[in-house]
Amino acid sequence: MRKKIVAGNWKMNKTQDEGLKLTSEIVNMVGDEVTGDVTVILAPPFVHLAQVGRLIAGADHLFLSGQNCNDHAGGAYTGEVSAAMLKSVGADYVIIGHSERREYFQETDAQLAKKVDLALENGLAPIFCCGESLETRENDDYIAFVCQQLKESLFHLPAADLSKIVIAYEPIWAIGTGRTASSEQAQEMHAALRKYIAAQYGEELAENLSILYGGSAKPANAPELFACADVDGGLIGGASLQSRDFVDIVKSF
Ligand code: PGA
Repeated sequence: MRKKIVAGNWKMNKTQDEGLKLTSEIVNMVGDEVTGDVTVILAPPFVHLAQVGRLIAGADHLFLSGQNCNDHAGGAYTGEVSAAMLKSVGADYVIIGHSERREYFQETDAQLAKKVDLALENGLAPIFCCGESLETRENDDYIAFVCQQLKESLFHLPAADLSKIVIAYEPIWAIGTGRTASSEQAQEMHAALRKYIAAQYGEELAENLSILYGGSAKPANAPELFACADVDGGLIGGASLQSRDFVDIVKSF
């Protein structure tokens, strides 16, 4: 059975007080309102991880994630954070390959493959992001483009490791733009990615993999997106910064 997952990517938002207030509200709302089998992941900025982790410790449904990790195990990389450090403050997940990292920090597929390896070695489940630009979408080869991203950064893994990955399909043209992919567009890509993974790793593994949608997801469109056969939840940016919106998305399955 694939996991249903909603992950909140706070990006570079929230001071400490704001982040802890948001977390407390989410803990309370999830405790009071969320039933059923859904995994809720919070990905705050690095500096909040330990404290957010303490607030969610012991709460049902809730897990902690980093937004990134370095592609080296440790050493002289000023300003960077390793997968082992994330694990040591209570993270179970790490977002890898977000389009903002690919674009603003020039992260390459090969670097992302190393990050994936280090995350897995340190007991973190990568939330691996993929997705095409508007230009690629308009060129009709968008499915092949996203499949290639998976191949370059994930297909070196043995099946036992690949099965621990969460995929997040995030069309770049939908991130933070208010322009959500339609449920048909999301379903088309998710089904294609699952088929591509099945061809490499077999049907059973692909069927059990969670594939999340990200890009302007909000309470108003989440129910329709999550109702798609191959959409197993969402990676939420803007709407994860408001407890009410975020928890309403969590309740959208
Ligand atoms: P958004 O961001 O929900 O603000 O579009 C999604 C993401 O980048 O993970």
